[in-house]
Amino acid sequence: MEGMIAGNTSLSKVDGLKGRLYYRGIPVEPLAEQATFEECCYLLWNDELPNERQLATFCEELADLRSLPPQIWEVLAPLAGRQPLMDLVRTGVSALSAWDTDTKITLSDPEEHSQANLRMSKRMLAGMATLVAGCFRLSRGKQVVEPHEDNSHAANFLGMVLNKAPGEYEERIFDAALTLHADHGFNASTFSGRVTAATEADIYGAVTSAVGTLAGRLHGGANTAVMRMLEEIGDVDHCEAHVDKVLSDPKGRIMGFGHRVYKVEDPRATVLRRMAKELTDRTGNSRWFEMSRKIEDVVKAKKGLVPNVDFYSASVYGSLGLDPELYTPIFAVSRVSGWLAHVMEQHADNRLIRPKANYIGQMDRPFTALNER
Ligand code: ACO
Repeated sequence: MEGMIAGNTSLSKVDGLKGRLYYRGIPVEPLAEQATFEECCYLLWNDELPNERQLATFCEELADLRSLPPQIWEVLAPLAGRQPLMDLVRTGVSALSAWDTDTKITLSDPEEHSQANLRMSKRMLAGMATLVAGCFRLSRGKQVVEPHEDNSHAANFLGMVLNKAPGEYEERIFDAALTLHADHGFNASTFSGRVTAATEADIYGAVTSAVGTLAGRLHGGANTAVMRMLEEIGDVDHCEAHVDKVLSDPKGRIMGFGHRVYKVEDPRATVLRRMAKELTDRTGNSRWFEMSRKIEDVVKAKKGLVPNVDFYSASVYGSLGLDPELYTPIFAVSRVSGWLAHVMEQHADNRLIRPKANYIGQMDRPFTALNER
C-alpha cells in the first residue's frame, strides 16, 4: 500500500517531502514545546485547543479515571515476566473491557454510541498510563504504585513507574515527548486499529490490535531496539564499526533510521535531538547522546538515511532513567490518544475497510481426494 491513500482523516497531516507534521492543522513543534499533552489530546479529540476552563475540566476528568479495577492486577500478575512487556500491556487492554459496560452500546444508536465512545476513550487514555506503569512494575517483581489525582498525566506516569515524583524539568521533557508521539496519519498501528474499528468492533478491540501492531521493531519497537544497539556498541569509538557491520548485510537495518513517508528528516526527531542534548547537558552524562550523534553522521554519510522519531527518543528516555523495555509501551501511553481519536473518527462515518488482494498463486488446479494424495 506504499504511497496509497487509504481513507480520509482530519486528525493529523504528515508532509513527508517537507518533513512537517500537523495535529488538526497546527504544527507539532509549538504543541510539544508550549502546550501540555492534555491540551494536545483535547485538540485531537475536539478539533480545537481548550481554553483554561475546558482544559481544567478535561484534566480533572482524566485524573479521576486513572485508577484501574484492582482485579486487573490479579489477571496480569501470573503473566508478568513470562512475556515481553508489550504483550502484557496488550493483554491488559483486552482484559479491561470486562469492567466497562459501555462496550454493550452498539452503533445502531449512533448518538448514544458516540457518547459511550468518548467515555471509554477517556477511561482508556487515563488508564493506559496506569496499565503500562503497573505492568512494568509487576514484570520487575515490584508492587504496583497507585496513581495520584493532583498532577499531570506525564508526572503521574513517571511517578508510578519510578515510585517518586519527577522533577519539573523531567516532567516537562517527558510531556513534550508524549505530545510528539500522539498521532501520525495512517501509521501501521493506527491503521490496524481503524481496520478493527471499521468492523464495528469496540474501542478495546481496536486498541488491542493497535498495541499488537506497535510492538514490532519496524514500528514502535524500534525505540527499545535503538537503546539495545547503543548498549551493545557501548562506546562512541565503536559506532562506525558497528554501522559498517550491520550495513555489510544487504538486509541489515540500523534501528531508528528510515521512514516510509518522510523523505527528509522526521520533524519529531529534530525536536527530540534537541531535547536529548539539553537533557544530557544537564545530567552531565552525554554518552548516549554522543553515540547517537556519531551513528547519525555515519548512517547519513554511508546510506543517506536520516533518523526517525524512535532514534532520539531512546536517548531521551535513557537520560530520564527509564528502563529500555518501557520505551515502546511509553509510545502506547502517548499514541493511544491518536488511536482513540481515529476510532471515534472512523465510527462517526463508518465503512468497512476491506482492500483487495492481488492473487499470485496457481489457478484451476484439480482437487485430489484424501486417499489419492
Ligand atoms: N537501515 C539500513 N537500511 C535501511 C534502513 C535502515 N534503518 N531503512 C531503510 N533502509 C534501506 C533499505 O535497505 C533499502 O535499501 P536498498 O534500496 O538499497 O535496498 C532502502 O533503504 C529502502 O528501504 P525500504 O525497506 O524499502 O523502506 P520501507 O519504507 O519499507 O521501510 C522502515 C521503512 C520499515 C521504517 C525502514 O526504514 C526500517 O526498517 N527502519 C528501521 C526500523 C525503524 O526505525 N522503525 C521505526 C519507524 S518510525 C515508527 O514507526 C514510529
